[in-house]
Amino acid sequence: MMNERLMRADTMMRIGRNIPLARLGGAFYVQRRDTPPQRGAIICKDTMTDVQTPAARPANPRFSSGPCAKPPVFSLDALSDAPLGRSHRAAVGKSKLQQAIEDTRDILQVPDDYRIGIVPGSDTGAFEMAMWSLLGARPSETLAWESFGKGWVTDAVKQLKLADNTEREADYGDIVDLAAVDWNKDVCFTWNGTTSGVRVPNGDAIPADRDGLTLCDATSAAFAQDLPWDKLDVTTFSWQKVMGGEAAHGMIILSPRAVERLESYTPAWPLPKIFRLTKGGKLIDGIFKGETINTPSMLCVEDWLQALAWGRSVGGLKGLQDRANRNAQVVWDFVAANDWIENLATDPATRSNTSVCLKFIDPAAAGDADFAKAVGKKLEAEGVAYDVGSYRDAPAGLRIWCGSTVETSDVQALMPWIDWAYHAVLAEREAA
Ligand SMILES: Cc1ncc(COP(=O)(O)O)c(C=O)c1O
Repeated sequence: MMNERLMRADTMMRIGRNIPLARLGGAFYVQRRDTPPQRGAIICKDTMTDVQTPAARPANPRFSSGPCAKPPVFSLDALSDAPLGRSHRAAVGKSKLQQAIEDTRDILQVPDDYRIGIVPGSDTGAFEMAMWSLLGARPSETLAWESFGKGWVTDAVKQLKLADNTEREADYGDIVDLAAVDWNKDVCFTWNGTTSGVRVPNGDAIPADRDGLTLCDATSAAFAQDLPWDKLDVTTFSWQKVMGGEAAHGMIILSPRAVERLESYTPAWPLPKIFRLTKGGKLIDGIFKGETINTPSMLCVEDWLQALAWGRSVGGLKGLQDRANRNAQVVWDFVAANDWIENLATDPATRSNTSVCLKFIDPAAAGDADFAKAVGKKLEAEGVAYDVGSYRDAPAGLRIWCGSTVETSDVQALMPWIDWAYHAVLAEREAA
């Protein structure tokens, strides 16, 4: 991993006509416009011919924010133990599903008295199931600082039409004031805003003795970031994110207080079977023992078991978090060394270590969606980074998934390519 001191030493190296050299991912490359022209620095005149192609390529160019890169050890052969063509209710299927729940609990360090279920519809299914089943019993707040959080606000206001709901929204890059939230109401929020790269820094703002329930969409946080279980009543995520599992399956984790609400409150609206967690006023116990509401893919279950086994092999929760932290640090170091690019997250404490979102700040490119798209396209065309364009509703820029399945060496190898692609697009613009 590159540290800041090394970076500074590298950027001081010069070649030829005093052209600054930077080193990232082990390779030297020409650093262009490392200071703005008004400060008298040399500007390399970029043309398609003098933009030097970096020497090294990421071994795996998959930096998508979902579905995310498979674990580095992934192989289809590893799924050969999947009980395909067997009923998920047969002993073999049920024991796989139970194992998936137990291994998830173990790695995520979920308290014993919390219930964990595998549910349909990925994270969306898990979160909406919670909203539809629990909300309406008391006043609520919905918090949003990017597109997915806004989706939950829409659910609360336009679909559920909650009578007493307070909306709090922050712009992309910022987070709402968590200290201002009334945690005695039910509060819906996203732990890590995947499309803005802004995360809740910790659970300090959430009182342990709150009266309301917290409903937390942790899909791009779980396994890579600390989740304070005593502050979370409902936590949801999808297999397709930090662990590189498959889509379409979600997990829901319920605190004892959430279960108590489920068993004591019946919402005013009808619940489709796919959302029903209770029967006759009691929690459907089987859901939390692997008796899923409807038919799961046993291939995806096997894949999840393999992903968890890999997670254990890299040191469990701590190892998974360290991997994401190391990856994100590589990008942050790159950003610190280049004055044309910046983190979208304004407060370093809220910067995501999974969905790292960046914006171009040079006036030639700032806020220019076509420019950002062209950079992403170049990276994709070179086969060095797939799916790194910012989310369609987010400010123009790049989003580099740094979750635990991504190898740090690949992030290191990508950085010179971002520099390359940026300057190549700049040169094309200047030449046009
Ligand atoms: C924060 C957040 N919530 C919800 C979703 C939806 O997840 P899924 O498509 O797995 O339901 C995503 C997907 O990227 C997300 O990032």
